[in-house]
Amino acid sequence: MEHTPDAYELADLELLLSGAFQPLSGFLGHDDLHTVTERGTLADGTPWPAPVTLRLPTDVSPGSPGSPGSPGSPGDEVTLLDPEGVPLAVLTVTEHEPDGLTAGPVRGLGAPEHGPFARLHRTPAQVREALGGRPALVVTMRGPLDDLTEITATAKELDAVIVLLPLSYGEPGPSVVRAALRARDHLPEGTLVVPVPLAPREEPEIDLELREHVATAYGATEHLAGPEPVRIPGPPHRRGLVVFFTGLSGSGKSTVARGLRDALLELGTRTVTYLDGDVVRALLSKGLTFSKADRDLNIRRIGFVAAEAARHGGLAICAPIAPYEATRAEVRELVESVGADFLLVHVSTPLEECERRDRKGLYAKARAGLIPEFTGVSDPYEEPDDAGLVIDTTHLSIEAAVSQVLGALRAGGWVR
Ligand code: ADX
Repeated sequence: MEHTPDAYELADLELLLSGAFQPLSGFLGHDDLHTVTERGTLADGTPWPAPVTLRLPTDVSPGSPGSPGSPGSPGDEVTLLDPEGVPLAVLTVTEHEPDGLTAGPVRGLGAPEHGPFARLHRTPAQVREALGGRPALVVTMRGPLDDLTEITATAKELDAVIVLLPLSYGEPGPSVVRAALRARDHLPEGTLVVPVPLAPREEPEIDLELREHVATAYGATEHLAGPEPVRIPGPPHRRGLVVFFTGLSGSGKSTVARGLRDALLELGTRTVTYLDGDVVRALLSKGLTFSKADRDLNIRRIGFVAAEAARHGGLAICAPIAPYEATRAEVRELVESVGADFLLVHVSTPLEECERRDRKGLYAKARAGLIPEFTGVSDPYEEPDDAGLVIDTTHLSIEAAVSQVLGALRAGGWVR
């Protein structure tokens, strides 16, 4: 069986394989987690600060322990792949819970590392070997180091080699590594820079303890935690933005979305990507049906493209029905994870009005039973309660509706 863990789990996997999480050599299960949260120790008594877990949606068997007279059976083996499909490790399942939590040791398959600054990666063992028994001052960092004097002084006092560990997880990863390389230029000769993809833990104390742990694995005599990065997100008119229209068929969302696109093109201050529902279904989502699974896939595809545009500071306008709350929330999360903003516009024109207009004659067909699963008629529309703007076009001209959205964009500082 094969499985591709998410980015967070893959980062943990890399640390499990490199030995940075030693003595941990696999993903934790409920039993371990219980002890982790209750007493901060693993089942065998080793102190361990944080959950390191994997969720596996498919059913796998943890096997059964042997007993006198019955040999028992080994747990299933799951090959863990990176998002491009390269096998990274084999997990032997020792625990599998109904919620998907899956525990067990992992064995690396020696896949070559890739990604920005992969050439700088070293295992803890390689770093300890390079240190050759000398004391080490290990500095873990998630942002630029603003004070190198403390580091230099401490290293001098301990007569220690300085090891900078930029915690290079996720979007800000490469910039943290660049900050470490810049700092190295001002630190004593022989200072090492080794990126470690340690994903941040929510609890600051747990995060710090885990950093201590990783620093120790890398040979720390002493550990310094760099300052927390101050996130300056940049002004909204330079940030990416996804304006996501949702509403019934015939509610006017495409018309308003198109009007917004045209108005933005006339202003000319932002690049615009336009992802109308019907347009997307003609190519990007061609062949998809209107089943729940296909609608979700359609919305995820739209969200993916919109997030890519917004990642680089672009403004994306989406206008599908997007009837399901959970899927809209997923897109919002994706967009925000790339550092962009998300504005949900609910075009709330009621069903009666959409049906009265029936521009495409679809409601009549749906009522006649000719179109199954038609949103509002024979398929649900979950009203959003998290919209940044609600527009009912029943008594509103297109121009007025567009100017309401533009007004919201100006008010948010996204358009000047
Ligand atoms: S969504 O549910 O996946 O977000 P999407 O916006 O892409 O829907 O497509 C909606 C458009 O497809 C409608 O405007 C309408 O023209 C057409 N359509 C065809 N069949 C259906 C259906 N069963 N339910 C809703 N819209 C449909």
